[in-house]
Amino acid sequence: MTVKVGLLGLGTVGIGTAKILLDPAERHPLVKAVEIYRVGVRSLDKPRAIELPRDRLTTDLQAIVTDPNVDVVVELIGGLEPARSLILEAIRQGKHVVTANKAVIARYGDEIFTAANEAGVYVLLEAAVGGGIPVIQPLKQALGVNRIQAVTGIVNGTTNYILTRMQEEGGDFEAILADAQKLGYAEADPTADVDGLDAADKIAILASLAFGGRIKLEDVFCEGIRHVSASDIAYADRLGFVIKLLAIARRDTCPMSNEALEQLQLRVHPTLVPKHHPLASVNDVYNAILVEGDPIGQVMFFGPGAGEGPTASAVVSDILNIVGTLQSQSVAAASEPQNPLLACTHQHY
Ligand code: HSE
Repeated sequence: MTVKVGLLGLGTVGIGTAKILLDPAERHPLVKAVEIYRVGVRSLDKPRAIELPRDRLTTDLQAIVTDPNVDVVVELIGGLEPARSLILEAIRQGKHVVTANKAVIARYGDEIFTAANEAGVYVLLEAAVGGGIPVIQPLKQALGVNRIQAVTGIVNGTTNYILTRMQEEGGDFEAILADAQKLGYAEADPTADVDGLDAADKIAILASLAFGGRIKLEDVFCEGIRHVSASDIAYADRLGFVIKLLAIARRDTCPMSNEALEQLQLRVHPTLVPKHHPLASVNDVYNAILVEGDPIGQVMFFGPGAGEGPTASAVVSDILNIVGTLQSQSVAAASEPQNPLLACTHQHY
């Protein structure tokens, strides 16, 4: 059984994804079952780090999501539109979707997962939070039996890189941001990262998974790192703390209520983290997500939160997850009734 993938976008993560899927070295037996059938690009003539047959490339992304031969649409174009419309159209066409797009999922997750449930297709998003760190699947499955108390993360590599350098060098935010931009660690327009918006998208997604229901982005308090000064960091250091941009989702008791009413704290802001805390030693562009639950206690996920290879690893893991499920379904359909343990149930966000 071959599963045909329509790849939307051949930027850094798209290239990384194609490299893994076209790698002749056998990484995973299911890779052989994946065919990169169509690839949507902005320009057909741009030189690329990977060779793909010219007739697979198209600038018509709509044609990919409506192509009856495509089984899985992999959305890697980022941004809100046309990404949202293409994902919804792919779902309407009965295609499974893999996306790395945290902005779309954080804002339109409700619409997308409702459509996916109605259409009976999977929408997987491991690459949307934490780059290469497997955290979405574990929250949905391996940790699913736990009552989650809190999810606390360093989920933005750019700001963690800037804060780490401010800590190590004693430099000012503006100077280190400018240098990070020169070195390619920060975007030319760093707003989404330094103002905490990227981290807010990510914690909204993690909180929806950890606590159920749909978390609205407007409910996440958000303050970035622009106003963190060299002297803030120096004072924190003297008192035994480092400053990290934390994204926090915590189950709490409502202080305004006499009854034990529960509320959810959702916030992104620079935070004093004691130096002995496990998140304090997460430096540079690395990400980490600490999950506290009952009965498991504390679990921390740590790793590269961005970049071609790590993010592509997460994208391909989602593609293979779908391939494995489709294969087990087709085997089951041809023989015994399906073992429910083999079926993935990811469409429930
Ligand atoms: N801009 C993001 C970061 C990239 O700095 O973490 C990964 O989502």
